[in-house]
Amino acid sequence: MSRNLVIYFSRRGQNYFGGKILSIDKGNSERIAEYIRDAVDADVFEIRTIKTYPEDYHACIEEAKAELRNNTRPRLEEYLEGLRKYDNIFVVGPCWWGTYPMAMFTQLEDLDFTGKRVMPVMTHEGSGLGTAVRDLKKTCRGAKVVKGLAIQGSRTAESEQTVAEWARKNIR
Ligand SMILES: Cc1cc2nc3c(=O)[nH]c(=O)nc-3n(C[C@H](O)[C@H](O)[C@H](O)COP(=O)(O)O)c2cc1C
Repeated sequence: MSRNLVIYFSRRGQNYFGGKILSIDKGNSERIAEYIRDAVDADVFEIRTIKTYPEDYHACIEEAKAELRNNTRPRLEEYLEGLRKYDNIFVVGPCWWGTYPMAMFTQLEDLDFTGKRVMPVMTHEGSGLGTAVRDLKKTCRGAKVVKGLAIQGSRTAESEQTVAEWARKNIR
């Protein structure tokens, strides 16, 4: 049985790629989640909100900004029951205004992380990990939060080896 879990959020649709707006049918963080799943035989849980975020990049930016400002906790389609089966939890998502989308915190705040190892992974277009590590340390009480991995979203396609090696090195 796998002792590794990937929790991820990812958004399809328009996104920003090195100065251009392009539409993608699979999100960058979703691809990264798949790389980790394949590298360390992890179970995968996708964070899905009941509401849909705009496909339009600029509209989504504005909505995400308002959610961050209001510290919103969007409701989810489905919630993880618990982490009993797992030792290593990868938290994978895009950088939205410097941290994970608020929906990630909706789920994480609902879980008991005592004794777990948490691996932050963030896709971004320049902000790196932002405040991801600090935010996970605050949210995942009782966990050991490791250093974290930032992947530029527009480089996702060529990042599989980096992600896989990092994931294998960090599990216990
Ligand atoms: C609402 C929104 C806010 C974003 N904010 C940032 C940011 O603050 N810093 C940054 O480097 N990239 C930012 N980006 C770019 C995304 O982090 C990047 O494209 C990421 O790879 C998208 O992942 P996804 O396809 O899994 O959703 C933002 C994108 C969106 C849609």
